[in-house]
Order: sequence, then structure tokens, then C-alpha cells
Amino acid sequence: MKVLRKIEELRKELSSKKELKIVLVPTMGYLHSGHLALVKKAKEFGDIVVMSIFVNPIQFGPNEDFEKYPRDFQRDEKLAESAGVDYIFYPERDEMYKNHKTYVSVSDITDILCGEKRPGHFTGVATVVLKLFNIVKPHAAVFGLKDAQQVRVIEKMVEDLNIDVKIVRAEIIREESGLALSSRNKYLSQSGKEKATALFKSLEMAKKMIENGEKNTSVLKEKIAEFILKEAEDARIDYIEIVNYEKMEKIEHIAGEILIAEAVFIDGVRLIDNKIMKI
Ligand code: PAJ
Repeated sequence: MKVLRKIEELRKELSSKKELKIVLVPTMGYLHSGHLALVKKAKEFGDIVVMSIFVNPIQFGPNEDFEKYPRDFQRDEKLAESAGVDYIFYPERDEMYKNHKTYVSVSDITDILCGEKRPGHFTGVATVVLKLFNIVKPHAAVFGLKDAQQVRVIEKMVEDLNIDVKIVRAEIIREESGLALSSRNKYLSQSGKEKATALFKSLEMAKKMIENGEKNTSVLKEKIAEFILKEAEDARIDYIEIVNYEKMEKIEHIAGEILIAEAVFIDGVRLIDNKIMKI
């Protein structure tokens, strides 16, 4: 495995591999088994896996955790190598954003959920991902459904801008408790981790209610909120929403491919989780 910090170095390295299929796994590092599952998936879609590790400053809001986002490159390097990554692209901020003036914004589908709560977030994500596509020129790129709205934003950008890359969706990887793996779980205490399982459990409860015939999304959202606040009294709900996954539009009645998405602060840490269902 090689680590490359410069765009030109990476391009040079990959230009000699033109006959091989390159798969990109974009990350912000502090790797966990969720990221490593993306690498495994990437291997199904090509010959060479390039993982980017870059805590992208432009996708964080002014009051968010950019500065204290967890970082440990040495640990990441070992984990990536053991998972079978061929190249890590690990640029410095200036390598990506020196005198930067161009941004990619995907409209409408970013007006709700995390897009509504984190203004500018998805413009930051779309911009860095398009830059990575242009730098790496991958045949495919893998994204986790942990960030379900992010997946749709990238898919829409690829469709709208005619980008020649296959977007691969990867399932959410969870702890045994149900808690979705996240670099931000590091901020949680043991009791916080226990309370945080309320997110997954509330989604499972909603799934059962839907399977038992509940179609009214207001009722479902209310029950989810009630459940979370019962399990974790001091939780602060940022949003609980049910949308059509393809269109990212709020729905009143459950039908088609739906996304139940939630963002909840547990011990001051903002956690997200979701469930996609086809009815
Ligand atoms: P990051 O949060 O590091 O996540 C990198 C990739 O790992 C994303 O595709 C995310 O959905 C996936 N992932 C994270 N936790 C997961 C889990 N528990 N199960 C499955 N997949 C999981 O998402 C980003 O970084 C950034 O926004 C990025 C796309 C790199 C752009 O900066």
C-alpha cells in the first residue's frame, strides 16, 4: 500500500494502471469497520482500491466539530492496509483548496434532513467528491447508506453532470447493540453509547409498526420521538423525518421506497441513523 499526499503524484501513479479498474472509497478517516466494509465492497467492483482520507473543511458549519473531528493517521494506515487498500490519498488542506472559488450545489433534495439542519454541508460534500472523482478518475466509488441523503446527493450529481462513475451503495454496519458505527461514537461515554442504541431501536420499532399496517407518517414520527425520549431522557432530537428516498420529499402516507431518517444529540454528540424500506 502506498500513501500519496499530492494530486500530481497520485495521478502519475494511476496513469500507469489505465487498463485496471479503479474503485474510490472517500472517507474522512478515523476508520472503523463501516469504512472497511466499503473497501471490501470496492474490491468486488474493480482491481485497485484508492481510499481518500481528508477531513473536508468546507462540509463543516462554523459551529460544528471540524477542529475536534477525530484524527489518527497512523492507525488509519494500518487498518486500511489490512483491509486491502492499494493507495491512500491523504492530501493537506492547501492541496485541495488553495484559492478555491468553485462549488457544486445539488438543489431541492438537500433542502431537508441534514441538508436543512446543516446549511452548506452538501455543497461541501458534492464539491470534494467531484474533485476526488476528477483526481482519481475511478470506474466506481462506494458510499455507505449510513449517510443515506449523501448517497442520493452524489447519485444526483453524477446523473445531472454526466459523470462517468458507478456509484455503489453499501449497507450500514452496526455494533452488536445496533448502534451504527461512526467516527463520532468516540465522543460518547459508555452510558452515552447505551442511550445511543435508542436510534436503532426506534427505527426497528417503526419498521414493525409499518409491517403491522401503520401508514400514517405523523403517527410514526411521534412514536419514534416518544421512544427515543423514553430511552434517553436528555436526548435532543434534531429531526425525525420520513421521506420518499428517491425524491427526498416528505410523505404523509407510507408507500414505495421510503427513508426513515433521524438525527439526535446524545450527550451533545450529533448522531444520525436511518432505515430504508420498500413497501
Ligand atoms: P465519513 O463520515 O468518514 O464516511 C466515509 C464513508 O463511510 C461514507 O460513505 C459513509 O457513509 C461510510 N460509513 C460511515 N459509517 C458507516 C457505517 N456504519 N456503515 C456503512 N458505511 C459507513 O461521509 C464522509 O466521510 C464524507 O462526507 C465524505 C463522503 C468522505 C466527503 O468528505
